[in-house]
Amino acid sequence: MMLFNLNLPLYIHIFLLGFILIDHPAVALPNFGVTAVREQFSKAFASWSLPFPSSSTSIEKRAQTLSGVNYNPNGTAFLWLPDVEYSGKTFFDTWDFFEGDDPTHGTVHFVNRSFAEDNGLISFNEQDGTVVMKADDFTTLPMGVNRSSVRISSQQLYTTGLFILDLRRAPWGCAIWPAFWTLGVGPTWPQNGEIDILEGVHDNEHNQIAFHTNPGCMYDPNATFTGTIPGDPSEANRTNCDASARQNSGCDVVEWSQASYGPFFEQQGGGVLAMKWDENDISVWSFFRAAVPTDITAGTPNPSTWGLPSARLMNTMCDIPNFFANHTIVFDITFCGDWAGNSYATTNCPGTCLERLMDPANFVNATWSINSLKVYRKELLSGNPQPSSSSYDYDRRVAFRVILPLVAALIFTFY
Ligand SMILES: *[C@@H]1O[C@H](CO)[C@@H](O)[C@H](O)[C@H]1NC(C)=O
Ligand SMILES: *[C@@H]1O[C@H](CO)[C@@H](O)[C@H](O)[C@H]1NC(C)=O
Ligand SMILES: *[C@@H]1O[C@H](CO)[C@@H](O)[C@H](O)[C@H]1NC(C)=O
Ligand SMILES: *[C@@H]1O[C@H](CO)[C@@H](O)[C@H](O)[C@H]1NC(C)=O
Ligand SMILES: *[C@@H]1O[C@H](CO)[C@@H](O)[C@H](O)[C@H]1NC(C)=O
Ligand SMILES: *[C@@H]1O[C@H](CO)[C@@H](O)[C@H](O)[C@H]1NC(C)=O
Ligand SMILES: *[C@@H]1O[C@H](CO)[C@@H](O)[C@H](O)[C@H]1NC(C)=O
Repeated sequence: MMLFNLNLPLYIHIFLLGFILIDHPAVALPNFGVTAVREQFSKAFASWSLPFPSSSTSIEKRAQTLSGVNYNPNGTAFLWLPDVEYSGKTFFDTWDFFEGDDPTHGTVHFVNRSFAEDNGLISFNEQDGTVVMKADDFTTLPMGVNRSSVRISSQQLYTTGLFILDLRRAPWGCAIWPAFWTLGVGPTWPQNGEIDILEGVHDNEHNQIAFHTNPGCMYDPNATFTGTIPGDPSEANRTNCDASARQNSGCDVVEWSQASYGPFFEQQGGGVLAMKWDENDISVWSFFRAAVPTDITAGTPNPSTWGLPSARLMNTMCDIPNFFANHTIVFDITFCGDWAGNSYATTNCPGTCLERLMDPANFVNATWSINSLKVYRKELLSGNPQPSSSSYDYDRRVAFRVILPLVAALIFTFY
């Protein structure tokens, strides 16, 4: 008892910390990684208060335990269930290699699979289990000659889905323009829409997300997300996703985090990009490594717990099923061209874009290194479990405040 009393201030401290963490995570912790920490606390706690799915992730079990249950605006419940996973040695078996001229006019030669394999532009890294796709970083080229690189698209087409890309590295550097995106298959771009999930050029440090559509699709000014619409807000059509409205820019959003693109993203050990697409909205989140929510790592993703996305296109001012359909998933690395070529002079990069292309040493960081790409499909729950999420949260909060101090008391009493 004596010992317990001696440790009373510490006990109170832990008690208060539990209180603050659950109710005001943004206050208790720096913004850096707050989502992950909050998630860990909630999840750790959820497993005490409720039966948490262990090895089984069957629909019934997850529905019963409410792990990952999301709700449509009309109140119907649904889960995101595993659909397709792209990873490991067989990664490239279900993708097509694009071999045509770059539609964005890059100084690039997109190679076929056998050339890419024979020359090490694609590979599987046995040591760390990553799938690697990279630019030619070994050939010295004369000025103006196309550098070899890779552009692949998934054979499977998707209309809606939750796409979760876990990256160790994404390409970056002067003259380099990589993108991870989904593209509607159809005769005329952008008839079935385009969703750019990770994209940037040169020495950028902030990821750029964009939507490109036919006329009639716009950001809802009431939508909340953490990214910013770049440029002059008074400029016409800033929130118009119509590809023809502003020279093909679409409606773009720049992420606030400096770790969302380029060297800082890589130094963090990469991270996770998640794109949720259903009838209600299309949203993109990016998490640097330390902030990846545990439900993502556990394979039971629950976007409703991830906080605000970086960008969100709502169905209120864009009839999503009408503008987005039959998407293939695309990875590519191009050089110069429409964006990277025209913006080169405005960066801190040396010389000209075409000069930069000649030396292979400039392309050592033009590398995708992929842990996995997982696609989940939306499954409506017929039983529609409806425990109010607020009482669930309340239970967690109350129990957290009780149990944490109890544990602290036990430790300090018997230590
Ligand atoms: C509720 O909305 C979802 C789409 O958000 C739809 O799939 C479902 O059919 C709707 N259910 C009812 C009962 O209206
Ligand atoms: C280089 O790439 C461009 C397209 O980006 C293409 O128009 C051109 O024909 C290519 N040059 C050669 C020699 O293949
Ligand atoms: C792949 O590309 C290389 C070099 O461009 C070419 O020599 C080869 O014939 C191509 N292979 C196939 C199967 O198309
Ligand atoms: C945005 O919010 C305002 C105020 O609540 C509302 O009047 C308006 O209709 C909303 N706009 C859309 C597109 O939902
Ligand atoms: C805005 O975009 C529409 C097409 O969606 C176009 O007709 C209109 O001219 C654009 N306005 C300006 C000021 O560029
Ligand atoms: C999507 O593809 C399916 C199968 O090829 C086709 O039946 C459907 O019309 C396509 N939808 C759109 C909007 O292009
Ligand atoms: C590649 O990345 C390393 C590590 O961040 C950096 O030191 C180097 O300057 C980069 N090289 C190029 C050519 O971008």
